Amino acid sequence: MSAAGEKKKTACVTGGNGYIASALIKMLLEKGYAVKTTVRNPDDMAKNSHLKNLQALGPLTVLRADLDEEGSFDEAVAGCDYAFLVAAPVNLASEDPEKELIEAAVRGTLNVMRSCVKAGTVKRVILTSSAASIIMRPELQGDGHVLDEESWSNVEYLRANKTAFWGYPVSKVLSEKAACRFAEEHGISLVTVCPVVTVGAAPAPTARTSVPTCLSLLSGDEAEFALLRGMAKVSGTVPLVHVDDVCRAELFVAEEEAAAGRYLCCSLNTTIAELARFLSANYPQYTVKTKLLSGDLLEKPRARLSSAKLVGEGFEYRYKTLDGMYDDMIDYGKALGILPNL
Ligand SMILES: NC(=O)c1ccc[n+]([C@@H]2O[C@H](COP(=O)([O-])OP(=O)(O)OC[C@H]3O[C@@H](n4cnc5c(N)ncnc54)[C@H](OP(=O)(O)O)[C@@H]3O)[C@@H](O)[C@H]2O)c1
Repeated sequence: MSAAGEKKKTACVTGGNGYIASALIKMLLEKGYAVKTTVRNPDDMAKNSHLKNLQALGPLTVLRADLDEEGSFDEAVAGCDYAFLVAAPVNLASEDPEKELIEAAVRGTLNVMRSCVKAGTVKRVILTSSAASIIMRPELQGDGHVLDEESWSNVEYLRANKTAFWGYPVSKVLSEKAACRFAEEHGISLVTVCPVVTVGAAPAPTARTSVPTCLSLLSGDEAEFALLRGMAKVSGTVPLVHVDDVCRAELFVAEEEAAAGRYLCCSLNTTIAELARFLSANYPQYTVKTKLLSGDLLEKPRARLSSAKLVGEGFEYRYKTLDGMYDDMIDYGKALGILPNL
């Protein structure tokens, strides 16, 4: 109960050991929500230690659940007002993307949504998709494109050409579409958030996705940098958003009754060249690994991702510049061992 005697709202966040989910759990607890989260292995303290610390902020229950196991999320969503579907296969290096990324993501999303139907209490499902479901359209040549929620990554092209990391965008497009169909058939209120490359510190003690990628110019990690370069090449932009803004956007579309459909979540379009100049000027102790910068690099983005829908409905980004976004990211990178302690 809150001080006013009202029952706390309850939210389920799937994949609580993940980067974005850990930040979302923290925000929900700070806003007075009771939170239920899931992890695949609750005993794995190397991945889950932050959840113990977050329990000091409010009621947080940790349950075991796996996207691959039918009915696994029943207990986690039972009694919840909102279900934030954040967990998803994100292994870009998968050797079998059809099975491990695409089929697993679609099946896992529907699995959690079936649990939401059974629960009968969930007022809204908030699906975390990705700008990867929007931007992978190699047929768009030339400058000046503005992409928004109307745009879908080209599944046929990606499947036919198997371009680098093709399985991930396909998994995101097909999960979104399957979730949307399921929601219509079962009368569920579904809103989808499509964050761009997400930066900034979170409570999770490990980070495997965008954090090492966005620090790669300083860490010199070539495999991580290849992800950044590949995305910039196909989309013509490096679109960034701070993890706090992603979580605020997720909560905004959950609580705003009129919210509907997809929301692209992006506060800055930049380029690798701009990012390298910024990092070099602001963090001289970490020399930018200039050998990564060889070849053609865009000076300015030739395409933009637009968050006009989210902003038009009243959402305000807190972090709109690289300074704000990278402020806490360097310390987080040090804490995670991605950057040396300089
Ligand atoms: N980071 C970004 O820049 C970004 C941008 C746009 C969208 N997103 C989306 O945001 C979501 C979270 O990404 P993230 O960056 O926070 O990645 P992350 O830290 O790797 O989180 C992924 C989570 O999914 C869980 N998961 C994977 N397969 C599972 C399964 N079979 N059963 C249960 N849980 C499973 C992982 O659990 P384990 O630890 O057990 O593997 C982990 O908790 C994903 O849907 C991703 O596509 C991320």
